[in-house]
Amino acid sequence: MDVRDPEPLGGHPGWPSRLGPLRTPAGEVALRPVRLGDARAWSAIRIRDEQYLTPWEPTPYGGWARRNSAVEWPGRWYLLRAAARRGSTLPYAITVDGRLAGHVMVGNVVREPLLSGYVGYWCDSRLSGKGVTTAAVALVVDHCFRAVRLHRLEATVRPENVASLRVLAKLGFRHEGVLLRYLDVDGAWRDHHSYAITAEELPAGGLAGRLVRQGRASH
Ligand SMILES: CC(C)(COP(=O)(O)OP(=O)(O)OC[C@H]1O[C@@H](n2cnc3c(N)ncnc32)[C@H](O)[C@@H]1OP(=O)(O)O)[C@@H](O)C(=O)NCCC(=O)NCCS
Repeated sequence: MDVRDPEPLGGHPGWPSRLGPLRTPAGEVALRPVRLGDARAWSAIRIRDEQYLTPWEPTPYGGWARRNSAVEWPGRWYLLRAAARRGSTLPYAITVDGRLAGHVMVGNVVREPLLSGYVGYWCDSRLSGKGVTTAAVALVVDHCFRAVRLHRLEATVRPENVASLRVLAKLGFRHEGVLLRYLDVDGAWRDHHSYAITAEELPAGGLAGRLVRQGRASH
């Protein structure tokens, strides 16, 4: 029989927390809660990477520049912090050698009986293809299946997003189906593939441990 400790009522275990580091070809990848002081670095990356990010992110009504300006960040950060304190999200900044490099967020966290959430991420284009996001998602999945005590994580990706599909494949997310007209991205309702992983699929040593064994990252 599977005897688990009871779920802490109203709790949000595992938050706030710092995860990593994992060494990748780009540098040392670590996760920490997003900060009010991230405004300028966050905005600088997002404004520079508009072309890189817009095909995959929710349509920025009001305009990309406005929605990603440094003055926009405090309001966003405040909402994220409030949701994180309630336990419905885990909003992490990805840092590489201590500098902001992107975000990996667990959203829509639902506790008993589902114990589930979704994972979303983006990364600075200057660091692309060096394993940063794969390492970051591995750290967050391991944490969610351990300290946060979730059971299922899902990720949804446009079929055209080869880089993101590759991240999920490297980590062992399973394809579950196609969600038609799922999300308003880049100005239209776009189909997405749905991927998931459950706690039973976590290898010994976690996803981060497997990346290390595969030579994709090191401690
Ligand atoms: C998707 C994204 C987060 C990946 O970040 P990243 O740090 O470059 O990811 P990783 O380096 O860990 O892995 C990317 C993999 O995709 C591969 N890849 C990237 N572009 C590719 C392309 N055009 N064709 C084929 N493979 C590609 C890389 O080679 C790498 O695989 P490998 O390790 O087998 O070589 C980043 O591209 C991004 O921020 N994109 C825009 C936002 C976005 O798509 N977010 C996710 C929405 S679901």
